[in-house]
Amino acid sequence: MTVNETTDLQSLKQTPGRGRPDPPNGPSLNDTLASGCALIDSTLDRLLPAETQIPTSIHKAMRHSVFAGGKRLRPILCMEAARMVQRELPAGELPSGVEDLGSALEMLHTYSLIHDDLPALDNDDLRRGKPTCHVVFGEDIAILAGDALQTHAYEVLSKLPCAPQARIRIVGEIARGTGTIDGMIGGQVMDLEAENTRADAATVEYIHRSKTGALITASLTTGGIYAGGTREEIERLREFGQAIGLAFQIVDDVLDVTKSSAELGKTAGKDTASDKATYPAVFGIEESLRRADALIVRACEALDPFGNRSETLRSLAHFLVERKS
Ligand code: IPE
Ligand code: IPE
Ligand code: MG
Ligand code: MG
Ligand code: MG
Repeated sequence: MTVNETTDLQSLKQTPGRGRPDPPNGPSLNDTLASGCALIDSTLDRLLPAETQIPTSIHKAMRHSVFAGGKRLRPILCMEAARMVQRELPAGELPSGVEDLGSALEMLHTYSLIHDDLPALDNDDLRRGKPTCHVVFGEDIAILAGDALQTHAYEVLSKLPCAPQARIRIVGEIARGTGTIDGMIGGQVMDLEAENTRADAATVEYIHRSKTGALITASLTTGGIYAGGTREEIERLREFGQAIGLAFQIVDDVLDVTKSSAELGKTAGKDTASDKATYPAVFGIEESLRRADALIVRACEALDPFGNRSETLRSLAHFLVERKS
């Protein structure tokens, strides 16, 4: 997927009341997304084992899923949180080495997608516009490729060029965000167990906050920790992340209903077919979008103390709910 297709900034600006202007002095949203994507792609290429490395099958499988496309939103949120928190950076620069942290987050996210698509979970054969990992490499290698992306992410985190105390806190935040208690795996378990149950609003909210919101939140808090943020700054980022993370999954649910597989690069209409617990199933599409918009307003309020420095994260928050894929 190209960055232009991803951002669709033109149509975003033409949507009355929903589009937001770019930051007055900073780079455009399009530039932030394009440069973030390029930096993460090149860093992932540097950090991941080569396809020729033995055993080649798993390294091919890891690279197949990581480089199939993807918006790289978690790393971009992480890097922009770090940029916002670390003052006295020359304009346009990021805290040195933060792209390694962003890339580790993308490895973990990609692992979650490989496993999410497995026949035992959502049973999907299309991801990021390509056949899913298990379709190309078999279920055995796909399971192991997900596992390997996870362990490789922690190896990268162990070498982050930041203060040891910050490194330990970052590992803890990410492990919790992807874990079983209010984290990604716990949310995935509840998502599976809620199929065909007519889940209520509280259950769907819990699932979404856990399976998707927790890793998005950890992307922001760890960016802030990496850049040396204060406790108060990290808690502001957490509040922002929790709100945009829930909004992000609400919009994912809506897109599943309103877009085609070609537009999404993954199978559309899958949630209804599997009778998943989703926001549109509980609230309908309009009310779901209204809730997502309200969450973005609340999220941005959490960044008020950062003033103009938060413009890029605010633009990204609006983009998350206005995206088309
Ligand atoms: C998809 O995430 C899975 C969810 C958590 C909803 P993204 O929409 O960020 O997927 P990619 O990384 O761009 O493929
Ligand atoms: C996936 O949610 C969340 C995680 C991968 C943790 P979905 O099942 O809705 O994601 P898609 O729609 O397949 O991308
Ligand atoms: Mg799923
Ligand atoms: Mg899925
Ligand atoms: Mg979905």
